[in-house]
Amino acid sequence: MSASSDNAAAETCTDADPFPGRVILHVDMDAFFAAVEQRDNPALKGRPVIIGGGPPPWQKDERKRRSKVSEDTHAWEAASSGRGVVTTCSYEARPFGIHAGMPISQAWRRCPHAVYLYGSRGKYGACSRRVMEILSSFSPELEPVSVDEAFLDVTRTRHLFGGAWAVARGIQYKIRRRLDLTCSVGIGGNHLMAKMASKMRKPAGIFEIPDAEAREILAPLQVGKMHGIGPSTEAMLEKLGIRTLGQLAEYPAKVLMRHFGPAMTASLHRMARGEGGRVTRPFGYKTVEKSMGHSRTFGVNIKETQAIEAELLDLIERVCRRLRRGGWRGKRVSLQLRSPAFVNQHRQAPLPEATCNDRSIFLVVRKLLHDNWKPGEPLRLVGVSVSNLVPDEACSLQRNLLEEEVLLREESLNQALDDLKDYWGREIISRCNASMRRRYRVEV
Ligand code: TTP
Ligand code: MG
Repeated sequence: MSASSDNAAAETCTDADPFPGRVILHVDMDAFFAAVEQRDNPALKGRPVIIGGGPPPWQKDERKRRSKVSEDTHAWEAASSGRGVVTTCSYEARPFGIHAGMPISQAWRRCPHAVYLYGSRGKYGACSRRVMEILSSFSPELEPVSVDEAFLDVTRTRHLFGGAWAVARGIQYKIRRRLDLTCSVGIGGNHLMAKMASKMRKPAGIFEIPDAEAREILAPLQVGKMHGIGPSTEAMLEKLGIRTLGQLAEYPAKVLMRHFGPAMTASLHRMARGEGGRVTRPFGYKTVEKSMGHSRTFGVNIKETQAIEAELLDLIERVCRRLRRGGWRGKRVSLQLRSPAFVNQHRQAPLPEATCNDRSIFLVVRKLLHDNWKPGEPLRLVGVSVSNLVPDEACSLQRNLLEEEVLLREESLNQALDDLKDYWGREIISRCNASMRRRYRVEV
Protein backbone atom coordinates (compact mmCIF):
# COMPACT_ATOMS: atom_id res chain seq x y z
CA MET A 1 0.00 0.00 0.00
CA SER A 2 1.20 3.48 -0.72
CA ALA A 3 -0.27 6.91 -0.28
CA SER A 4 0.54 10.57 0.08
CA SER A 5 0.53 12.56 3.30
CA ASP A 6 -3.05 13.69 2.96
CA ASN A 7 -4.33 10.18 2.71
CA ALA A 8 -5.63 9.77 6.22
CA ALA A 9 -6.90 6.28 5.55
CA ALA A 10 -3.33 5.11 5.32
CA GLU A 11 -2.69 4.95 9.07
CA THR A 12 -0.86 1.77 9.85
CA CYS A 13 0.10 -0.28 12.86
CA THR A 14 -3.34 -1.90 12.90
CA ASP A 15 -4.15 -5.60 12.52
CA ALA A 16 -2.10 -6.24 9.42
CA ASP A 17 1.16 -4.53 10.27
CA PRO A 18 3.01 -3.90 6.98
CA PHE A 19 6.30 -4.01 8.90
CA PRO A 20 6.61 -7.25 10.84
CA GLY A 21 10.30 -6.53 11.39
CA ARG A 22 11.85 -3.12 11.79
CA VAL A 23 10.37 0.24 10.84
CA ILE A 24 12.73 2.88 9.55
CA LEU A 25 11.88 6.46 8.65
CA HIS A 26 13.98 8.56 6.31
CA VAL A 27 13.46 12.29 6.71
CA ASP A 28 14.77 14.62 4.02
CA MET A 29 14.26 18.39 4.08
CA ASP A 30 12.84 19.89 0.90
CA ALA A 31 15.15 22.16 -1.14
CA PHE A 32 16.89 22.75 2.17
CA PHE A 33 19.23 25.73 1.61
CA ALA A 34 16.80 27.44 -0.75
CA ALA A 35 13.86 26.88 1.61
CA VAL A 36 15.78 28.47 4.50
CA GLU A 37 16.47 31.52 2.32
CA GLN A 38 12.82 31.74 1.27
CA ARG A 39 11.71 31.46 4.86
CA ASP A 40 14.04 34.25 5.99
CA ASN A 41 13.16 36.59 3.15
CA PRO A 42 9.45 36.61 2.32
CA ALA A 43 10.19 38.40 -0.96
CA LEU A 44 11.69 35.12 -2.20
CA LYS A 45 8.60 33.01 -1.44
CA GLY A 46 7.10 31.50 -4.58
CA ARG A 47 10.10 32.54 -6.70
CA PRO A 48 12.81 30.42 -8.28
CA VAL A 49 15.80 30.68 -5.93
CA ILE A 50 19.14 29.21 -6.90
CA ILE A 51 21.85 28.66 -4.32
CA GLY A 52 25.31 28.08 -5.62
CA GLY A 53 28.78 29.38 -6.11
CA GLY A 54 27.18 32.81 -6.17
CA PRO A 55 25.21 35.06 -8.45
CA PRO A 56 26.58 35.39 -11.94
CA PRO A 57 28.28 38.67 -12.87
CA TRP A 58 25.20 40.06 -14.54
CA GLN A 59 23.52 40.42 -11.16
CA LYS A 60 25.60 43.45 -10.44
CA ASP A 61 23.84 44.87 -7.39
CA GLU A 62 23.88 41.58 -5.58
CA ARG A 63 27.50 41.13 -6.55
CA LYS A 64 28.50 44.48 -5.10
CA ARG A 65 26.61 43.83 -1.90
CA ARG A 66 28.08 40.38 -1.47
CA SER A 67 31.61 41.43 -2.18
CA LYS A 68 31.45 43.53 0.99
CA VAL A 69 29.91 40.96 3.27
CA SER A 70 30.76 37.55 1.87
CA GLU A 71 32.11 35.17 4.45
CA ASP A 72 34.23 33.57 1.77
CA THR A 73 35.25 36.33 -0.55
CA HIS A 74 37.43 34.17 -2.67
CA ALA A 75 34.83 31.52 -3.43
CA TRP A 76 32.44 34.36 -4.09
CA GLU A 77 34.83 35.89 -6.49
CA ALA A 78 35.22 32.64 -8.44
CA ALA A 79 31.53 32.15 -8.51
CA SER A 80 30.68 35.69 -9.42
CA SER A 81 32.27 35.03 -12.75
CA GLY A 82 29.39 32.60 -13.30
CA ARG A 83 31.73 29.57 -13.15
CA GLY A 84 30.45 28.12 -9.88
CA VAL A 85 27.87 25.33 -9.70
CA VAL A 86 24.34 25.07 -8.35
CA THR A 87 24.18 23.66 -4.82
CA THR A 88 20.41 23.48 -4.77
CA CYS A 89 17.37 25.35 -5.99
CA SER A 90 13.82 25.95 -4.83
CA TYR A 91 11.02 23.85 -6.28
CA GLU A 92 9.92 26.85 -8.35
CA ALA A 93 13.22 26.58 -10.27
CA ARG A 94 13.02 22.83 -10.89
CA PRO A 95 10.60 22.89 -13.86
CA PHE A 96 13.38 24.78 -15.70
CA GLY A 97 15.56 21.70 -15.40
CA ILE A 98 17.88 23.22 -12.81
CA HIS A 99 19.57 20.74 -10.50
CA ALA A 100 22.51 20.46 -8.10
CA GLY A 101 25.87 20.33 -9.84
CA MET A 102 24.77 22.31 -12.92
CA PRO A 103 27.07 25.24 -13.81
CA ILE A 104 25.58 28.53 -12.66
CA SER A 105 26.00 29.94 -16.17
CA GLN A 106 23.79 27.16 -17.57
CA ALA A 107 21.22 27.75 -14.84
CA TRP A 108 21.20 31.41 -15.81
CA ARG A 109 20.49 30.57 -19.43
CA ARG A 110 17.56 28.41 -18.39
CA CYS A 111 16.17 30.67 -15.71
CA PRO A 112 17.49 34.24 -15.87
CA HIS A 113 14.70 35.61 -13.70
CA ALA A 114 15.66 33.43 -10.71
CA VAL A 115 17.27 34.91 -7.61
CA TYR A 116 20.86 33.69 -7.33
CA LEU A 117 22.31 33.50 -3.84
CA TYR A 118 25.61 32.41 -2.40
CA GLY A 119 23.97 31.09 0.77
CA SER A 120 25.18 30.92 4.31
CA ARG A 121 26.50 27.59 5.56
CA GLY A 122 26.48 28.70 9.22
CA LYS A 123 22.76 29.38 9.10
CA TYR A 124 22.02 26.02 7.46
CA GLY A 125 24.15 24.20 10.03
CA ALA A 126 22.24 25.79 12.91
CA CYS A 127 18.94 24.91 11.25
CA SER A 128 20.10 21.35 10.66
CA ARG A 129 20.86 20.94 14.37
CA ARG A 130 17.33 22.04 15.24
CA VAL A 131 15.89 19.55 12.75
CA MET A 132 17.90 16.74 14.35
CA GLU A 133 16.70 17.80 17.83
CA ILE A 134 13.10 17.56 16.66
CA LEU A 135 13.71 14.12 15.14
CA SER A 136 15.35 12.82 18.29
CA SER A 137 12.15 13.60 20.20
CA PHE A 138 10.48 10.73 18.28
CA SER A 139 13.11 8.06 18.83
CA PRO A 140 16.55 7.85 20.41
CA GLU A 141 17.69 5.77 17.45
CA LEU A 142 18.49 8.65 15.17
CA GLU A 143 21.19 8.56 12.52
CA PRO A 144 21.84 11.87 10.78
CA VAL A 145 23.33 11.17 7.36
CA SER A 146 23.80 14.65 5.96
CA VAL A 147 22.98 18.24 6.76
CA ASP A 148 19.33 17.73 5.86
CA GLU A 149 18.54 14.04 6.15
CA ALA A 150 18.42 11.38 8.79
CA PHE A 151 17.22 7.86 9.46
CA LEU A 152 15.04 7.25 12.46
CA ASP A 153 14.43 3.73 13.73
CA VAL A 154 10.94 3.83 15.21
CA THR A 155 10.48 0.07 15.66
CA ARG A 156 10.32 0.48 19.41
CA THR A 157 8.74 3.91 19.74
CA ARG A 158 6.08 4.16 17.04
CA HIS A 159 3.33 2.73 19.28
CA LEU A 160 3.78 5.76 21.58
CA PHE A 161 2.61 8.03 18.77
CA GLY A 162 0.03 5.76 17.11
CA GLY A 163 2.09 4.17 14.36
CA ALA A 164 4.72 5.06 11.78
CA TRP A 165 2.43 7.34 9.79
CA ALA A 166 1.57 9.28 12.93
CA VAL A 167 5.29 9.71 13.66
CA ALA A 168 5.86 10.93 10.12
CA ARG A 169 3.03 13.42 10.35
CA GLY A 170 4.22 14.53 13.80
CA ILE A 171 7.68 15.21 12.41
CA GLN A 172 6.30 17.25 9.54
CA TYR A 173 4.05 19.20 11.89
CA LYS A 174 6.83 20.03 14.35
CA ILE A 175 9.28 21.02 11.61
CA ARG A 176 6.69 23.25 9.98
CA ARG A 177 5.58 24.87 13.23
CA ARG A 178 9.00 25.38 14.79
CA LEU A 179 11.19 26.00 11.77
CA ASP A 180 8.69 27.02 9.09
CA LEU A 181 10.18 24.44 6.72
CA THR A 182 8.90 21.30 5.03
CA CYS A 183 10.33 17.82 4.78
CA SER A 184 9.48 14.53 3.10
CA VAL A 185 9.32 11.29 5.01
CA GLY A 186 9.80 7.76 3.71
CA ILE A 187 8.72 4.70 5.69
CA GLY A 188 10.29 1.32 5.02
CA GLY A 189 11.29 -1.97 6.53
CA ASN A 190 14.94 -1.10 6.00
CA HIS A 191 17.11 1.97 5.38
CA LEU A 192 17.16 1.61 1.63
CA MET A 193 13.41 1.37 1.26
CA ALA A 194 12.88 4.32 3.62
CA LYS A 195 15.32 6.39 1.56
CA MET A 196 13.65 5.41 -1.71
CA ALA A 197 10.22 6.18 -0.23
CA SER A 198 11.12 9.69 0.91
CA LYS A 199 12.11 10.61 -2.66
CA MET A 200 8.80 9.40 -4.06
CA ARG A 201 6.54 12.06 -2.58
CA LYS A 202 8.72 15.16 -2.62
CA PRO A 203 8.10 17.86 -1.54
CA ALA A 204 6.25 17.68 1.80
CA GLY A 205 4.91 14.15 1.32
CA ILE A 206 4.92 10.84 3.14
CA PHE A 207 5.28 7.52 1.35
CA GLU A 208 5.47 4.00 2.63
CA ILE A 209 7.01 0.91 1.06
CA PRO A 210 5.70 -2.08 3.01
CA ASP A 211 7.97 -5.12 3.02
CA ALA A 212 5.52 -7.25 1.04
CA GLU A 213 5.08 -4.64 -1.71
CA ALA A 214 8.66 -3.43 -2.04
CA ARG A 215 9.48 -5.47 -5.11
CA GLU A 216 6.28 -4.51 -6.89
CA ILE A 217 6.72 -0.78 -6.14
CA LEU A 218 10.34 -0.78 -7.31
CA ALA A 219 9.81 -2.88 -10.45
CA PRO A 220 8.82 -0.11 -12.92
CA LEU A 221 11.57 2.31 -11.79
CA GLN A 222 14.65 2.94 -13.94
CA VAL A 223 17.72 1.31 -12.39
CA GLY A 224 19.39 4.71 -12.05
CA LYS A 225 16.65 5.79 -9.63
CA MET A 226 17.91 3.31 -7.06
CA HIS A 227 20.03 4.93 -4.38
CA GLY A 228 23.50 3.47 -4.81
CA ILE A 229 23.33 2.75 -8.55
CA GLY A 230 25.40 5.40 -10.31
CA PRO A 231 25.64 6.36 -13.99
CA SER A 232 28.47 3.93 -14.82
CA THR A 233 26.68 0.90 -13.30
CA GLU A 234 23.51 2.05 -15.03
CA ALA A 235 25.33 2.16 -18.37
CA MET A 236 26.75 -1.36 -17.83
CA LEU A 237 23.30 -2.69 -16.94
CA GLU A 238 21.83 -1.00 -19.98
CA LYS A 239 24.30 -2.89 -22.15
CA LEU A 240 22.86 -6.11 -20.72
CA GLY A 241 19.38 -4.89 -21.63
CA ILE A 242 18.48 -4.14 -18.00
CA ARG A 243 16.59 -0.87 -17.70
CA THR A 244 14.20 -1.31 -14.80
CA LEU A 245 14.62 -2.58 -11.26
CA GLY A 246 12.08 -5.28 -12.06
CA GLN A 247 14.33 -6.59 -14.85
CA LEU A 248 17.34 -6.41 -12.55
CA ALA A 249 15.57 -8.34 -9.79
CA GLU A 250 14.80 -11.18 -12.25
CA TYR A 251 18.12 -11.20 -14.06
CA PRO A 252 20.15 -14.43 -13.61
CA ALA A 253 22.89 -13.96 -11.00
CA LYS A 254 25.25 -16.14 -13.03
CA VAL A 255 25.33 -13.68 -15.93
CA LEU A 256 25.49 -10.61 -13.72
CA MET A 257 28.43 -12.13 -11.83
CA ARG A 258 30.50 -12.23 -14.99
CA HIS A 259 30.25 -8.48 -15.28
CA PHE A 260 30.05 -7.30 -11.69
CA GLY A 261 31.60 -10.02 -9.50
CA PRO A 262 29.82 -11.91 -6.71
CA ALA A 263 29.63 -9.19 -4.04
CA MET A 264 28.20 -6.53 -6.31
CA THR A 265 25.79 -8.96 -7.96
CA ALA A 266 24.39 -9.90 -4.56
CA SER A 267 24.11 -6.25 -3.64
CA LEU A 268 22.37 -5.31 -6.93
CA HIS A 269 19.87 -8.12 -6.47
CA ARG A 270 19.24 -7.15 -2.86
CA MET A 271 18.60 -3.55 -3.82
CA ALA A 272 16.28 -4.40 -6.73
CA ARG A 273 14.30 -6.76 -4.50
CA GLY A 274 13.93 -4.15 -1.78
CA GLU A 275 16.06 -5.95 0.76
CA GLY A 276 18.63 -4.29 2.97
CA GLY A 277 19.53 -4.72 6.55
CA ARG A 278 21.88 -2.42 8.30
CA VAL A 279 21.31 -1.14 11.81
CA THR A 280 20.66 2.52 12.61
CA ARG A 281 23.71 4.00 14.20
CA PRO A 282 23.00 6.03 17.33
CA PHE A 283 23.18 9.84 17.30
CA GLY A 284 26.77 10.89 17.93
CA TYR A 285 28.13 7.66 16.47
CA LYS A 286 31.22 8.38 14.43
CA THR A 287 30.29 7.24 10.93
CA VAL A 288 33.31 6.06 9.00
CA GLU A 289 34.02 9.00 6.75
CA LYS A 290 35.70 7.95 3.54
CA SER A 291 37.38 11.24 2.76
CA MET A 292 37.20 14.98 3.27
CA GLY A 293 38.05 17.44 0.57
CA HIS A 294 37.56 20.85 -0.94
CA SER A 295 38.05 22.19 -4.43
CA ARG A 296 37.89 25.63 -5.95
CA THR A 297 37.05 26.83 -9.44
CA PHE A 298 38.84 30.09 -10.18
CA GLY A 299 37.07 33.13 -11.54
CA VAL A 300 39.93 33.41 -14.04
CA ASN A 301 42.37 30.58 -14.81
CA ILE A 302 45.58 30.91 -12.82
CA LYS A 303 49.08 29.82 -13.75
CA GLU A 304 51.51 31.42 -11.27
CA THR A 305 53.18 28.82 -9.04
CA GLN A 306 52.89 30.95 -5.94
CA ALA A 307 49.20 31.61 -6.53
CA ILE A 308 48.44 27.93 -7.07
CA GLU A 309 50.37 26.90 -3.99
CA ALA A 310 48.55 29.56 -2.00
CA GLU A 311 45.20 28.20 -3.17
CA LEU A 312 46.24 24.68 -2.23
CA LEU A 313 47.35 25.72 1.23
CA ASP A 314 44.09 27.52 1.77
CA LEU A 315 42.12 24.41 0.75
CA ILE A 316 44.30 22.26 3.00
CA GLU A 317 43.61 24.61 5.92
CA ARG A 318 39.89 24.09 5.35
CA VAL A 319 40.18 20.31 5.06
CA CYS A 320 42.38 20.02 8.15
CA ARG A 321 40.08 22.17 10.21
CA ARG A 322 37.22 19.82 9.31
CA LEU A 323 39.37 16.80 10.13
CA ARG A 324 40.25 18.21 13.55
CA ARG A 325 36.64 19.15 14.26
CA GLY A 326 35.50 15.64 13.52
CA GLY A 327 38.41 14.04 15.36
CA TRP A 328 39.91 12.42 12.24
CA ARG A 329 43.34 11.99 10.73
CA GLY A 330 44.08 10.95 7.17
CA LYS A 331 46.66 8.58 5.74
CA ARG A 332 46.39 9.54 2.07
CA VAL A 333 46.01 12.76 0.16
CA SER A 334 44.85 13.37 -3.37
CA LEU A 335 45.27 16.38 -5.58
CA GLN A 336 42.91 17.33 -8.38
CA LEU A 337 43.95 19.64 -11.20
CA ARG A 338 41.56 20.74 -13.93
CA SER A 339 42.76 22.45 -17.07
CA PRO A 340 40.74 25.15 -18.88
CA ALA A 341 39.77 22.41 -21.39
CA PHE A 342 38.20 20.41 -18.52
CA VAL A 343 40.93 17.76 -18.51
CA ASN A 344 41.12 16.41 -14.96
CA GLN A 345 44.16 14.90 -13.29
CA HIS A 346 43.82 13.09 -9.96
CA ARG A 347 47.05 12.21 -8.22
CA GLN A 348 47.42 10.50 -4.85
CA ALA A 349 50.18 9.97 -2.34
CA PRO A 350 50.44 8.41 1.11
CA LEU A 351 51.02 10.73 4.06
CA PRO A 352 54.06 9.97 6.23
CA GLU A 353 51.73 9.22 9.13
CA ALA A 354 48.03 9.58 9.94
CA THR A 355 47.72 13.34 10.29
CA CYS A 356 45.44 16.36 10.39
CA ASN A 357 48.32 18.82 10.35
CA ASP A 358 48.13 21.47 7.60
CA ARG A 359 51.85 21.73 7.10
CA SER A 360 52.56 18.00 6.80
CA ILE A 361 49.80 17.63 4.22
CA PHE A 362 50.85 20.73 2.31
CA LEU A 363 54.39 19.39 1.85
CA VAL A 364 53.07 16.22 0.22
CA VAL A 365 50.56 18.10 -1.93
CA ARG A 366 53.19 20.56 -3.10
CA LYS A 367 55.37 17.69 -4.26
CA LEU A 368 52.41 16.10 -6.06
CA LEU A 369 51.75 19.42 -7.77
CA HIS A 370 55.30 19.84 -9.01
CA ASP A 371 55.50 16.22 -10.17
CA ASN A 372 52.36 16.61 -12.26
CA TRP A 373 52.09 20.18 -13.40
CA LYS A 374 54.28 22.26 -15.68
CA PRO A 375 54.88 25.76 -14.26
CA GLY A 376 52.97 28.29 -16.30
CA GLU A 377 50.22 25.89 -17.38
CA PRO A 378 46.87 27.55 -16.63
CA LEU A 379 44.47 25.80 -14.24
CA ARG A 380 40.75 26.20 -13.92
CA LEU A 381 40.26 24.26 -10.69
CA VAL A 382 42.36 22.74 -7.93
CA GLY A 383 41.13 20.37 -5.24
CA VAL A 384 42.58 18.53 -2.27
CA SER A 385 41.07 15.57 -0.49
CA VAL A 386 42.33 13.50 2.44
CA SER A 387 41.28 9.85 2.66
CA ASN A 388 41.89 6.62 4.61
CA LEU A 389 40.60 8.40 7.68
CA VAL A 390 41.15 7.01 11.14
CA PRO A 391 39.76 8.36 14.42
CA ASP A 392 42.18 10.49 16.41
CA GLU A 393 42.11 8.14 19.35
CA ALA A 394 43.18 5.21 17.18
CA CYS A 395 46.52 6.89 16.39
CA SER A 396 49.36 6.13 18.72
CA LEU A 397 52.48 7.45 17.11
CA GLN A 398 56.09 6.68 17.88
CA ARG A 399 58.20 9.80 17.52
CA ASN A 400 61.50 11.03 18.83
CA LEU A 401 61.61 13.99 21.22
CA LEU A 402 62.55 16.57 18.60
CA GLU A 403 59.73 15.56 16.27
CA GLU A 404 57.39 15.52 19.22
CA GLU A 405 58.27 19.10 20.15
CA VAL A 406 57.79 20.41 16.60
CA LEU A 407 54.49 18.60 16.26
CA LEU A 408 53.25 19.86 19.62
CA ARG A 409 54.03 23.41 18.52
CA GLU A 410 52.15 22.83 15.27
CA GLU A 411 49.22 21.36 17.16
CA SER A 412 48.92 24.40 19.43
CA LEU A 413 49.21 26.70 16.42
CA ASN A 414 46.44 24.76 14.64
CA GLN A 415 44.31 24.91 17.77
CA ALA A 416 44.79 28.68 18.09
CA LEU A 417 43.92 29.22 14.41
CA ASP A 418 40.84 26.99 14.70
CA ASP A 419 39.64 28.90 17.77
CA LEU A 420 40.05 32.24 16.02
CA LYS A 421 38.23 31.00 12.92
CA ASP A 422 35.42 29.44 14.96
CA TYR A 423 34.88 32.77 16.70
CA TRP A 424 35.52 35.32 13.95
CA GLY A 425 34.91 33.37 10.75
CA ARG A 426 37.11 31.50 8.33
CA GLU A 427 38.61 34.51 6.61
CA ILE A 428 39.92 36.18 9.76
CA ILE A 429 43.33 34.51 9.67
CA SER A 430 45.36 32.17 7.54
CA ARG A 431 48.93 31.09 7.15
CA CYS A 432 51.11 33.63 5.41
CA ASN A 433 51.40 31.54 2.25
CA ALA A 434 47.68 30.93 2.06
CA SER A 435 46.94 34.62 2.47
CA MET A 436 49.19 35.26 -0.55
CA ARG A 437 46.33 34.17 -2.73
CA ARG A 438 44.68 37.52 -2.13
CA ARG A 439 47.49 39.24 -3.98
CA TYR A 440 46.62 37.19 -7.01
CA ARG A 441 42.94 37.79 -6.77
CA VAL A 442 41.57 38.89 -10.06
CA GLU A 443 38.57 41.18 -9.97
CA VAL A 444 36.03 40.05 -12.52
P1 TTP B 1 19.58 17.48 -0.93
O1 TTP B 1 18.71 16.87 0.11
O2 TTP B 1 20.20 16.57 -1.93
O3 TTP B 1 18.75 18.55 -1.76
P2 TTP B 1 17.65 19.57 -1.27
O4 TTP B 1 17.27 19.39 0.15
O5 TTP B 1 18.09 20.95 -1.61
O6 TTP B 1 16.43 19.24 -2.24
P3 TTP B 1 15.45 17.98 -2.13
O7 TTP B 1 14.10 18.56 -1.85
O8 TTP B 1 15.51 17.34 -3.46
O9 TTP B 1 15.93 17.09 -1.03
O10 TTP B 1 20.75 18.29 -0.25
C1 TTP B 1 20.52 19.02 0.95
C2 TTP B 1 21.30 20.28 0.94
O11 TTP B 1 22.68 19.99 0.84
C3 TTP B 1 20.96 21.18 -0.23
O12 TTP B 1 19.92 22.10 0.07
C4 TTP B 1 22.25 21.85 -0.55
C5 TTP B 1 23.33 20.97 0.02
N1 TTP B 1 24.10 20.31 -1.04
C6 TTP B 1 25.43 20.66 -1.22
O13 TTP B 1 25.96 21.51 -0.49
N2 TTP B 1 26.14 20.06 -2.23
C7 TTP B 1 25.56 19.15 -3.06
O14 TTP B 1 26.25 18.64 -3.98
C8 TTP B 1 24.20 18.78 -2.86
C9 TTP B 1 23.54 17.77 -3.75
C10 TTP B 1 23.51 19.39 -1.84
MG1 MG C 1 16.83 17.48 0.92
